[in-house]
Amino acid sequence: MHDASAPLPIVILISGNGSNLQAIIDAAAHTALPVEIRAVISNNPSAFGLERARRADIPALALDHKTFPGRGAFDAALQTMIDRFEPALVVLAGFMRILGPGFVTHYLGRMINIHPSLLPALPGLDTHNRALGTGLREHGASVHFVTNELDGGPVIIQARVPILPDDNVKILAQRVLMQEHHIYPLAIHWFAEGRLQLDQEHNQVVLDGTPLTSPVDYTDADNNPHDPQ
Ligand code: GAR
Repeated sequence: MHDASAPLPIVILISGNGSNLQAIIDAAAHTALPVEIRAVISNNPSAFGLERARRADIPALALDHKTFPGRGAFDAALQTMIDRFEPALVVLAGFMRILGPGFVTHYLGRMINIHPSLLPALPGLDTHNRALGTGLREHGASVHFVTNELDGGPVIIQARVPILPDDNVKILAQRVLMQEHHIYPLAIHWFAEGRLQLDQEHNQVVLDGTPLTSPVDYTDADNNPHDPQ
């Protein structure tokens, strides 16, 4: 069990640009997010996020899934690589590989993901395009515990954004990302302070000792008793 008075050791998994990684690095540097980022690992060796990590003097490692014979072998190698750093929390930040049941079970309750939709709406890929195509008026992002149901683990916090008449995928994705950069550090902060748990028996988020009946709505965060600021 992590001692909440020490910075939370975390490992962050990425596949691409790493703007969420950057938001976490910046929050740790400037807003007292109490984490120690022990490593950033990418399945894509050319991910720009690895460069972001190097610039912040964080160990940056690539584990190219294409060099493994199958998912099981990749998952096993990834788990070994992660566990060397002994993280209390594994943070998926734009990590675009599906992880197998053994891997997910190993990190159950100590692995979170950010997904660009208002889950349970729009699990899977291409969410912005699908949000525009289905005539939704609202879109957003969700932070959730990772369970063996793809994008189906209990949701901790969500941020909503409007879908505007002239939106295209790029504009909408940018609007959602800006919110992601707020809600991900916030959820990690709660975890670091020992305020956030997964109740595995009931598959439910517990925040400040209370099971959440619905995700925290970041849009209301100005009046949010959970906000650490
Ligand atoms: C983010 O929008 C994140 O929610 C999404 O990938 C993007 C990564 O951006 N994740 C998924 O779609 C996971 N299924 P970033 O690399 O700039 O943080």
